[in-house]
This record gives sequence, structure tokens and C-alpha cells, in this order.
Amino acid sequence: MPTITFVSPDGTTHRVAAAPGASAMETAVKFGVPGIVGECGGGLACATCHVFVDPDQIGRTGPAADFEEEMLEDAETAPTPCSRLACQIRMTPDLDGLTLTIAPRQ
Ligand code: FES
Repeated sequence: MPTITFVSPDGTTHRVAAAPGASAMETAVKFGVPGIVGECGGGLACATCHVFVDPDQIGRTGPAADFEEEMLEDAETAPTPCSRLACQIRMTPDLDGLTLTIAPRQ
């Protein structure tokens, strides 16, 4: 199973294993990773799953899609080129070792 390391704004790390096909948001919520709210359940309607992909890994996830970028513009924390909504990152074996820093305000 692909692992994800979530980095909290205070630097605390949480390394968890994603079920096949689960999103990064679903994985964070399942393991109680603090800071990922996922209020809309992955419906692309809340931006409470805002994360920053490690800059060295953005090529693996790809950047946010156009519709995702629109949601990120309304996020509580200003987006960067590495911003993604964790509910839109579908975990596949090739994403093993992904590092996602949780936005300080959701
Ligand atoms: Fe609502 Fe990701 S959980 S946009």
C-alpha cells in the first residue's frame, strides 16, 4: 500500500498507508491526521483538505486541475504552485512515499 507522510504546520509528521484507490484526504481522515477536515467528503466543495505537495514530488501528482484551482483560490490559506486538494489526489502505488504538508488554516 502506498504510504503518505503528512506534515502538520508545527512540523509533526504522520506516516500512514493508503488503501488502494483511496484519496489522500480519505486516508488522513481515516487515521485521524489533525488538520485535514474534509468537510464535503471529497465533493470538491469546501477546500478543507488543502495540502502542499513536496516541491520535489509535484511532478508525480501533477498540479491542481482547473476546477480544483478555482476552489483553492477560496481556501483559508493562500495557495502556492504546489497546492492541491487532498481529496483530488487518488493514491496509486506510484505515489508511494508522497509527502504532503497540511495548510495551516483550512
Ligand atoms: Fe472538500 Fe476536498 S474534502 S474539497
